[in-house]
Amino acid sequence: MTNKLFTDFPFVSEIQAAIKKTGYEKPTPIQVAAIPHLLENKDLIGCAQTGTGKTAAFALPLIQKLVTRKKTTPAKNAQSLILTPTRELAVQIHENFKTYGQGAKIKIVLAYGGVSIGPQIRDLQLGADVLIATPGRLLDLMHQNKVTLKMVETFILDEADRMLDMGFIHDIKKIIAELPRSRQTILFSATLPKEIESLAQSILINPVRVDVAPPATTAEKVAQSVMYVETSQKRDLLRHLLLKPEYKRVIVFTRTKHGANRVSEVLTKNKVRSEAIHGNKSQNARLRALDNLKSGSIQVLIATDVAARGIDIDNITHVINYDVPNVAENYVHRIGRTARAGTAGIAISFCDIEEKAFIQDIEKTIKLKIDIDRKHPYHSVKVEQAQVLSKGKAKAQLEQNSQQRQNKYKRLRKVFGGSKKGVQSQQRPRR
Ligand SMILES: Nc1ncnc2c1ncn2[C@@H]1O[C@H](COP(=O)(O)OP(=O)(O)OP(=O)(O)O)[C@@H](O)[C@H]1O
Ligand SMILES: [Mg+2]
Repeated sequence: MTNKLFTDFPFVSEIQAAIKKTGYEKPTPIQVAAIPHLLENKDLIGCAQTGTGKTAAFALPLIQKLVTRKKTTPAKNAQSLILTPTRELAVQIHENFKTYGQGAKIKIVLAYGGVSIGPQIRDLQLGADVLIATPGRLLDLMHQNKVTLKMVETFILDEADRMLDMGFIHDIKKIIAELPRSRQTILFSATLPKEIESLAQSILINPVRVDVAPPATTAEKVAQSVMYVETSQKRDLLRHLLLKPEYKRVIVFTRTKHGANRVSEVLTKNKVRSEAIHGNKSQNARLRALDNLKSGSIQVLIATDVAARGIDIDNITHVINYDVPNVAENYVHRIGRTARAGTAGIAISFCDIEEKAFIQDIEKTIKLKIDIDRKHPYHSVKVEQAQVLSKGKAKAQLEQNSQQRQNKYKRLRKVFGGSKKGVQSQQRPRR
């Protein structure tokens, strides 16, 4: 932490008042480092650990810019554009803007997929000072001529490395092609792999680079450990852990949607209050699951990487990687759902033989050796002593295992299909 205060920034009184209301005492290091450059309208790449207030680092200067310029935004236009990889993150950033922008008269519009487009079209009719969107829905709105980006002055990619990787880059390129050349461009993330960095540089002009910590540094107060366990015993280990009273608010990450559903079934059967969130769920169910975790009406959220980035829920006590992610950056983001805003948290990764390769890769990326926890009843000496496979081999092996599991499930479903007590009914996730 630094000695700087929010009042040291030349924010207008509405913003100072909003900050006061949030209860933040001091700006975080990324806020101290980034805000002055952003107020000078510079392009910027900002890297800081998860949970360190990157959202306010870009939101506050943007609100200041909008309030002081007092330009009105014409219908179907946007003055600033913020893109996020997931709908839930767009919703959250919208909430953040409402908090930081309370008192400032700015029009904030949210546009994301999976929900009806009509209300978003209506909102855009009035023009957006701030448009927060996911790329797919934004392109849809652009194609329908419901919004144009020709007046955008500030363009922000949150979770920038994700936005510029293969899953999104085509959409992002199409969107950038519609933006004015002269604009402020801002990228933020907790990770920025080298291969993304040069692409990132190409969309900015003379950017300031702010690194509070080297990219992919894990959150400061997260206690990380690995538990070696046979694949077949992971569910027992999970059940064992979740019975402990300190596991109050937990996110369990799985590699696949099917995996998330399977874990969800097991927990439901064992009367653990839980819900799953992944791409096959309806948008309402996704948002409800997050809300239920926030309100404490469920103990466990089982998630795919759709919930790995940016999501900010207070007091997540534990993050459990039921499957070790095979992309090291995802590990940083997943475990970053705990230990936010200076608090402490615990991250545990269940690791079977194949996944040792991914742990090795993660350790290289985060430049940290993760402790091995052998003090649990399912510790596997066999896994611990097994040779580490190459990453490629490990991925192929896991793919094969997953296929076999799916086939087994299909067979069981055929046998039990339709029966109330059968696999099919058990598989139906609780909503
Ligand atoms: N100056 C501050 N003092 C105290 N808390 C803060 C401050 N700024 C932001 N926060 C709080 O810190 C939490 C994390 O903020 P935020 O979601 O912006 O983190 P982030 O750096 O974007 O993390 P991630 O990389 O996971 O997206 C939020 O709950 C936010 O309200
Ligand atoms: Mg964030």
